[in-house]
Amino acid sequence: MPNVQGFGLGLRTEHYADFEAGLPAGQRPDWLEIISENYLVPGGAPLAHLERIRRDYPLVMHGVSMSIGSSDPLNLDYLRSLRQLADRIAPAWLSDHLCWTGVDHRNLHDLLPMPYTRAALDHLCSRIEQVQELLARPLVLENVSSYVRFVADEMSEAEFVATLLRRSGCQLLLDVNNVYVSARNHGFDAKAYIDQMPPEQVVQIHLAGHEDLGELVIDTHDHPVCDPVWQLYRHTLERLGRPVPTMIERDDHIPPLAELLQELDQARQVSVELFAAEAQPC
Ligand SMILES: [Fe+2]
Repeated sequence: MPNVQGFGLGLRTEHYADFEAGLPAGQRPDWLEIISENYLVPGGAPLAHLERIRRDYPLVMHGVSMSIGSSDPLNLDYLRSLRQLADRIAPAWLSDHLCWTGVDHRNLHDLLPMPYTRAALDHLCSRIEQVQELLARPLVLENVSSYVRFVADEMSEAEFVATLLRRSGCQLLLDVNNVYVSARNHGFDAKAYIDQMPPEQVVQIHLAGHEDLGELVIDTHDHPVCDPVWQLYRHTLERLGRPVPTMIERDDHIPPLAELLQELDQARQVSVELFAAEAQPC
């Protein structure tokens, strides 16, 4: 498996041609994150693009359909396809979301928050173990943004996520924008949330933009990262005490690649400011 460090981007079809043409040194992301579901059909055009691009870039896999929190049985066909793809492209790690996407075999096509209960923790720990066995590799889960919560909640989201990570040994893809969005929507302290995460289990960070409607913040991934999220990113790295592989997610209003690379440089700058002194030889 490739050793992924530094600053990445989500691979989007709009940028296939740029990556396949080759980018000058110094103007390339260090790695790329793919949406796993886009490459599950063997022999399709997307996989052909990916095979060309992966010669130049280490990859990580990011899925949206595992529905690990659902009470439906795990989708074994999906997990088999995921494993085949992972065996083929050897990602540095494989992630999905700490959520459910449907129930009763109906897919709601959304990343829905869990009820923060002890029963849900038991359910997730068991499912994580099964998934890791079926995929034959560790699973990384991402905290999602949310707009509602359950009356059945027995703990805060941060306590739920931190407890799950400790109990299951699962690793965390920490989406700093999602923490910000949910903190605004539910009125909790975003920094306190970050501080509760076990630092050694954070393997990747997502940064993204959102739509701010005042009383409601919507996780749209169609804007540049805003200043409060940059500040929360700085706080996150200070808290984690080390550089962590970080990427920008943009899923709508996708700009030219050069624009995203500039935004990615902002993330690099934050990390360099915090850790460059430590990296200097004596
Ligand atoms: Fe994310």
